[in-house]
Amino acid sequence: MVHSAQDLAVFCKKKGFVYPSSEIYGGLAGLYDYGHLGTKLKHNFENVWRKFFLNLNDNFFEIETANIMHENVFKASGHLDNFIDPLVSCSKCDMTERADHFLQTKVKERFEGLSPEQLTKLIRKHNLTCLKCGSELKPVSVMNMMFPLQLGIGKGNRAFLRPETAQSPFVDFRLQYELQRKKLPLGLAVVGRAYRNEISPRNFMLRQREFTQAEMQIFFNPAKLSEHRHFYLVQDYKIQTLLVKDRQENENHGRPKTEAKEIVERTAEELVKCGLPQFYVYYLVKIQQFYLDVLKIPKERLRFYELDEKERAFYNKYHFDIEIDLQEFGFTEVGGLHYRTDHDLRGHEKISGEKMEVFDEESGSRFIPHVLELSFGVDRNVYALLDLSFDENKERGNIVLHLPPKLTPFFCAVFPLVKNKPEITAKAEEVFAKIKEAFPCFYDEAASVGRRYARADEIGTFVCCTVDFQSLEDSTVTLRSRETTRQIRVKINDLPSLLEKIYHGEELEKLGRVVA
Ligand code: GAP
Repeated sequence: MVHSAQDLAVFCKKKGFVYPSSEIYGGLAGLYDYGHLGTKLKHNFENVWRKFFLNLNDNFFEIETANIMHENVFKASGHLDNFIDPLVSCSKCDMTERADHFLQTKVKERFEGLSPEQLTKLIRKHNLTCLKCGSELKPVSVMNMMFPLQLGIGKGNRAFLRPETAQSPFVDFRLQYELQRKKLPLGLAVVGRAYRNEISPRNFMLRQREFTQAEMQIFFNPAKLSEHRHFYLVQDYKIQTLLVKDRQENENHGRPKTEAKEIVERTAEELVKCGLPQFYVYYLVKIQQFYLDVLKIPKERLRFYELDEKERAFYNKYHFDIEIDLQEFGFTEVGGLHYRTDHDLRGHEKISGEKMEVFDEESGSRFIPHVLELSFGVDRNVYALLDLSFDENKERGNIVLHLPPKLTPFFCAVFPLVKNKPEITAKAEEVFAKIKEAFPCFYDEAASVGRRYARADEIGTFVCCTVDFQSLEDSTVTLRSRETTRQIRVKINDLPSLLEKIYHGEELEKLGRVVA
């Protein structure tokens, strides 16, 4: 059954995943706190992200950098001039909305990248008026989305909260390049906060004013854009795409929305034949593998959406959004693969006076490295994981959160069958102590065991281990699968190794005799 974002928001607050920040003072739009379960889920996402992407190359590293940056950083990057959103406001009341999103909700099409004049014309053409009072709307204007800050007292230094984590690796590039023995490609990743003064934060945690990004900037020799030494390993891999030309074809054939092609499968080799460089396509493959193999997102719910010249960010030459098909919102951007060329390093060289050029001994050439950016919104990915795993299970009469074992907040729970038998609770505590160092798990003895299974399902606990009367006789316990509710009986001594196997993907039913 399809649920709404509102249903999910209610669930997230009730269970302690995510809820509005500063809520006892009425909250602030676009700001959220993660509760005890949400924090675990978010950290698990960040950790699997690190493990997957930092392991792609021995010369990829994570750095941790300041959230407040010098004004000149954003002069150099172009954010001061270009990081703007179109704003539509009412001529009578205080209603303000982001103009392209306002049009999109009314006309059900995407309008990214249009100029204020074009957006104003469309608003007039569709006779759109104020959402609150119905009055005429003012012509569309623009607003810079960065949060300015004044550091210190008196005149102080003007600075900004960073609107993307990406700028730190650019600013730190020269130093890190020297430290890493002048080797390219060099990957510098940041997992951290970004801040944007969104005009109309909405859709729960999908559009916030403070959010977390996991981004990696890969600095490379531009002469090597058309090659990747491991491309031959992925050339036949099929990628879920929607290219600009697919969208044009949909339009040319006048296909109604229901018949339009939403995804076209293409091999990596075919995408190269379409004109994309090997280096770029290699990372499309890796990103898809991350989503399908690690996050376990169903293939049909993932696609790479190519942006055209008008739509893509001002710093990009090639730009695909990573999109996930969400329950209420349909395909939604959760990240992107951006070929930023030498836009940023060249900008920083100009404004700071620091040389960004490197000398490549292998080819004997000098150049400013180009950058491929792998960009992920952590909160949007967490939302997608919650949204796609949320199941209001009629048969069981409770919610089941089908999160993968490595992502779910608690992998395992330990229950004594009853709490009024000291021998059973003591044994259950012993079992808990045996496994809690190795796996995220919790101990619960409140209410009936059926109620505890239901509570465990609701927060995504992958397996439940129950100590019962038989355990006292033969040192065995039951293990119950969240996915199937089936139970196997296993020896307590074997628990750590069996749980390890389940954690890494083996089916519980294959590891012991099914008893219920
Ligand atoms: N460094 C490139 C960059 O920042 P972006 O497309 O503006 O590119 C990257 O942002 C990702 O950050 C998006 O795909 C999205 O997942 C996330 N993101 C952007 N704005 C957001 C917001 N207001 N709230 C939550 N996540 C956001």
